Amino acid sequence: MSETPNTIDDLLAEQRKFVPPPEFVANSLMVGTHLYEEAARDDEGFWARQAADLVTWDTEWDQICEWDLPYAKWFLGGRLNVSYNCLDRHVLAGAGDKVAIHWEGEPGDTRTITYAEMLDEVQRCANVLRSLGVSAGDRVNIYLPMIPEAAVAMLACARIGAVHSVVFGGFSSQALADRINDAEATLLITADGGYRRGEVFPLKPAADEALAMSSSVRNVLVVKRGGNPVEMLEGRDHWYHDMIEAADPVCPAEPFDAEQLLFLLYTSGTTGKPKGIMHTSGGYLTHVTFTHKYVFDLHPETDVYWCTADVGWVTGHSYIVYGPMSNGATQVMYEGVPNYPGNDRFWEIVEKYKVTILYTAPTAIRTFMKWGAQEPAKHDLSSLRLLGSVGEPINPEAWMWYHTYIGGGRCPVVDTWWQTETGGIMISPLPGATTTKPGSATFPLPGVTAELLDDAGERVDQGGGYLTLTRPWPGMLRGIWGDPDRYRETYWSRFPDRYFAGDGAKLDAEGYLWLLGRVDDVMNVSGHRISTTEVESALVSHPAVAEAAVVGANDPTTGQAIIAYVITRGGAEVTVEELRSHVATEIGAIAKPKAIFITPDLPKTRSGKIMRRLLRDVAEGRVMGDTSTLADSSIVDELQRRAAETPTED
Ligand code: WT7
Repeated sequence: MSETPNTIDDLLAEQRKFVPPPEFVANSLMVGTHLYEEAARDDEGFWARQAADLVTWDTEWDQICEWDLPYAKWFLGGRLNVSYNCLDRHVLAGAGDKVAIHWEGEPGDTRTITYAEMLDEVQRCANVLRSLGVSAGDRVNIYLPMIPEAAVAMLACARIGAVHSVVFGGFSSQALADRINDAEATLLITADGGYRRGEVFPLKPAADEALAMSSSVRNVLVVKRGGNPVEMLEGRDHWYHDMIEAADPVCPAEPFDAEQLLFLLYTSGTTGKPKGIMHTSGGYLTHVTFTHKYVFDLHPETDVYWCTADVGWVTGHSYIVYGPMSNGATQVMYEGVPNYPGNDRFWEIVEKYKVTILYTAPTAIRTFMKWGAQEPAKHDLSSLRLLGSVGEPINPEAWMWYHTYIGGGRCPVVDTWWQTETGGIMISPLPGATTTKPGSATFPLPGVTAELLDDAGERVDQGGGYLTLTRPWPGMLRGIWGDPDRYRETYWSRFPDRYFAGDGAKLDAEGYLWLLGRVDDVMNVSGHRISTTEVESALVSHPAVAEAAVVGANDPTTGQAIIAYVITRGGAEVTVEELRSHVATEIGAIAKPKAIFITPDLPKTRSGKIMRRLLRDVAEGRVMGDTSTLADSSIVDELQRRAAETPTED
């Protein structure tokens, strides 16, 4: 196997290790390695066994997988109803009174919804959709705040074989219009407004603007949440609650083909128009049910699970709606921001509902680090037994902070790597079985085969490379809506016959995988290929640093120069020179940033990913590119002002 001198350098070495705690192992669903061995012998057989054990089918499949590269189909000939799996089967098994959702509104209002209540409302909603002309295969757009009706609407679509396309409530009317138009949706489900940071943000007015730019939508269902005034267009707009109340409460769950399209979810690439990622039913449900059960070691009788994502992202689809509900979990769903009314809102919620499993994002963890450990210390977090992370590489120091201050040193941390396109978790520890290392997503799950390749497409067994997936998996995307060429081009063209995820990673001497971020972000400094993630992690390992973003800016001498933006922990004092030498000590002089800017905030997408493209624009003194996907655009002006004032260091 090749030495890959120039694919991506491997600079940071993390030595800490955490074996699964004995108290955790004693009660864990998965101890030991038998699932890995079974899957390595026969991955299709392994997934088929999960599909049979974890999912209820109306008709059994006659072929497990058809792999017609780059298209896979799973459980061919099988028939099932996804909403039956998420609701009816639990109620039929006697769990109707079990709480499905402990919902907490941002202002502090709450709702407790059982599986029986959820089933009742989903059936009514499904009948409402039908009465508004929606049938199997039709696309329904959902543009809602984080309220239970979002899950109801998704499951109601699934019940009748309609395809949902959820658009995050923070997106603009233009983004909504683009997605409605691309999918040619005929129905839109929205709300008057929702709560965010103590105020009502209007949704219906934005929806109205979007509808003015599209022509396919014939009916709009409007949930009342914000209480803000809205205009209702006679004949097109209907109040959700009136329709639900009047609806027939029975809507039998009709079986659909395993490959029935379940949803579209749009993901914006770095350039070009958003891609409608297609996910189907039987394989997807198998994948998310299996991973939710084993990665989170779910004991549905006793666990209270909380995923802090929004339903508008894939994490909300797979690990709020489909995975947890298929497993009959009890979960918390929270409407608002983590700092309303105070910086301890999340910890108040954990204490209140005695949350046992928490799944959140590194961006949130680093924000909590910035706010300080005194915030979680105000609350009793002893109910927690497992912590999860998703969305970005988690820096070793952020992992340690999460483990120490949130997990009290007793909870395993599962760093889960996956994508909108993969449908479900692909690389992650299994908490009762895997010895973890802070910052490593560890190993591919049973049934998943990942390999690193170098620039020449040769396999890398140790060091940095491109993360590829070599075998189909049940939750994989089935294509891009309306654009098969783009599907091949985006995922299957860089390396022949395999899926290239766009991410860099490295393998250490013990075979652990360390995600290094998007390969587009890899910097080239004097011929060294340095991952932004490693330099960021080195910065975050300084006790004064909560968060760091690193970019490569054009440099006449070194090709690119490393520029860092740093947020300090709780206002800690530190000099730029000290941080530069810290990086040099941690990972070497080659990675020493040329300039470091201390900043109060960073430009992020609404899902919390750092927008390095904009930071590059700032660093190279360019006029700002497109800022429309920014969560808060004022920070870019602030950074530009600082860049103009601060001399770079050499
Ligand atoms: C991209 C996918 C997966 C649901 C949320 C994001 C990055 C995701 C990790 C992780 C390092 C991660 C990757 C990936 N990413 N999880 N545990 N470690 N990087 O879904 O918006 O489709 O983004 O998020 O770069 O490709 P998405």
